[in-house]
Amino acid sequence: MVEVRKAVIPSAGLGTRFLPATKATPKEMLPVIDKPTIQYVVEEAVTAGLTDVLMVTGRNKRPLEDHFDRAAELEEALAAKGDEARLEQVRASSNMANVHYVRQGDPKGLGHAVLKAASYVNGEPFAVLLGDDFIDERDPLLPAMIEVRRRYGGSVVGLIEVPEEHIHMYGCAAVKPAPDGPALPFDHTSLIQITDLVEKPAAAQAPSNLAVIGRYVLDPAVMDVLAETPPGRGGEIQLTDALRTLAGNPDVGGPVHGVVFTGRRYDTGNPIDYLKTVVQLAVDRPDLGKEFREWLSDYVREGFQI
Ligand code: G1P
Repeated sequence: MVEVRKAVIPSAGLGTRFLPATKATPKEMLPVIDKPTIQYVVEEAVTAGLTDVLMVTGRNKRPLEDHFDRAAELEEALAAKGDEARLEQVRASSNMANVHYVRQGDPKGLGHAVLKAASYVNGEPFAVLLGDDFIDERDPLLPAMIEVRRRYGGSVVGLIEVPEEHIHMYGCAAVKPAPDGPALPFDHTSLIQITDLVEKPAAAQAPSNLAVIGRYVLDPAVMDVLAETPPGRGGEIQLTDALRTLAGNPDVGGPVHGVVFTGRRYDTGNPIDYLKTVVQLAVDRPDLGKEFREWLSDYVREGFQI
């Protein structure tokens, strides 16, 4: 079976939740402390062995290309100053992966963005990582999903349990127990089989409390299905709808499994969760954490007074 080695990162969104910051800056470039969110996502792919990455972009996304490219002038300036640490950081983002770009053109939904990757994917299985959240490297999810693909073929979807009142913001999976087999050799993950999927159902119609998070390992058969998938929720071509077709027709692209994840995950898709992410990661940072924790404890103890 062909190993998964390619990752597709849809990055064409307008980032309206972060206006006005995203008026002239792609939302993917918003920093979590001192690294753009997109770099955390690419690092997650690379750590899982996916060093060939396609970003599906749009207008105003040039800074993404610049970020993953060499910056000769900056590198020379840092080298001249002997600032090796920063030089290494600047080089890291251009060396970590082989990054390609394609533009989405019309904003016709996530399924449409993934379909734009068809010739890049070229018949191989591939991962899709959505940029609105990233997974803590100490709790690997993608490697577990790749292992599931290795064992059973087909496609694999990352899932989390959410409270009933949140399910309308996600794709939702109907599930049954997975075939008997050894447990996944990764903490914070468990395997189930997906029988159906619904995009953003009302709580009363949701078949479970299992929400699709933005991590997928897909059989290339999804491309033919996407090409035939009509616009769904919101008038957009939904990846969830294509996966629903696959789940109902395992003869076409193999089974669809879910990996239910309970590890650490950071949401950067809206201002309040973004803020929580920045605080959580700052507290953990070896170079900043001690001072930040002390300040934060004082700030809370003083009743949020400066
Ligand atoms: C997309 C998917 C949805 C999934 C979500 C995860 O929705 O369509 O199924 O649950 O990502 O973040 P979006 O958040 O782009 O509206």
